[in-house]
Amino acid sequence: MARRAFLGGLSEAEFLGEYWQKKPLLVRGAFPGFRGLLSPDELAGLACEERAQSRIVRHRRGKYTLEGGPFTEESFAALPERGWTLLVQGVNHFLREGEELLQQFRFVPHARLDDLMVSYAPPGGGVGPHFDSYDVFLLQGMGHRRWEISAQTDMELVPGAPLKILEDFRPEERWDLGPGDLLYLPPRYAHHGVALDECMTYSVGFRAPSAEELTQRFLGWLGEHLRPEGMYEDPGLRPPKHPAEIGEDMVGQVSAMLAQVRWDPAMVGRFLGEYLSDPKPHISFDPPRRPLGLEAFSRRAEARGVRLALPSLMLSRRGVFFLNGEEVRASKAERPLLQRLADDRRLAPPFGPALPRLHAWYQAGWVELG
Ligand code: SIN
Ligand code: CO
Repeated sequence: MARRAFLGGLSEAEFLGEYWQKKPLLVRGAFPGFRGLLSPDELAGLACEERAQSRIVRHRRGKYTLEGGPFTEESFAALPERGWTLLVQGVNHFLREGEELLQQFRFVPHARLDDLMVSYAPPGGGVGPHFDSYDVFLLQGMGHRRWEISAQTDMELVPGAPLKILEDFRPEERWDLGPGDLLYLPPRYAHHGVALDECMTYSVGFRAPSAEELTQRFLGWLGEHLRPEGMYEDPGLRPPKHPAEIGEDMVGQVSAMLAQVRWDPAMVGRFLGEYLSDPKPHISFDPPRRPLGLEAFSRRAEARGVRLALPSLMLSRRGVFFLNGEEVRASKAERPLLQRLADDRRLAPPFGPALPRLHAWYQAGWVELG
């Protein structure tokens, strides 16, 4: 069992067994020498882009306000010296190093991974005491942040606040994190991070869709994929007492029709593959402006390898692949190649039977030359 320095010397299996979804873990010097992946100015630049999801949280005298991006240079110039924080979601969609950082956490299935969020705060900045509904690894980049955490079960929120702020946060532990320190928090664990100096924090977040969301999405998917047969029939109809009344016969017949709706694990797997690999609505791809033809692409790909474009999401289930919300039925010969591409997000040559498919994905901006 390989021990992982960034998990405090635990193996991945030990971390999952003892901490994942169970209790916090603090690892000092988890990523030695880590100072961050981008500068405050570069983060602010991203926050000015339409395709990045960004927020600025400000607080004064215990009151928090929230503003959504994209921002402008003027927005930043108008900010006070203290008491605010900028948060940019999905930094791994813009920065190759961000994606590489996420790859460190591949002991958790890709289907659970959400994204890399990066925050910047001047001294005193933070988003207030709160809890998140997902697992998160908080990696400190530049500067220092004081984290207070609590296992409290009182999750009452300040009413009417524009973001989730715990009404009665009672910290139980407190640590000051510096560059390269890592704090793992399971879902619904109360926490509060305050910048001690100019500080940037990297949050590796894992998605956990609610039962409500999954059910709604699945029922939508099912509606598009089922083709039930038959029609409503009433050859034995008798004159009703109240013509406006929906009769028991009708309710019974429709209930019986709906009871015919069936699904199996293969359909659930297909739904999950399409749903979980579907890029978020603001995501866009950059197809090459003058794409290479198949032959030129093949020559270069065979020399340089290929990789998934940063915003691409690829999952697999039992030899079926899902790329950016689309099901991909690959030939037997292609499967080991596509599995490696899905697992590693990159693929070394030779590509043999997968070349035409890789070329089509390259034309769509889903795959790039390595
Ligand atoms: C932050 O980086 O300021 C906030 C991260 C979090 O508390 O989830
Ligand atoms: Co949080």
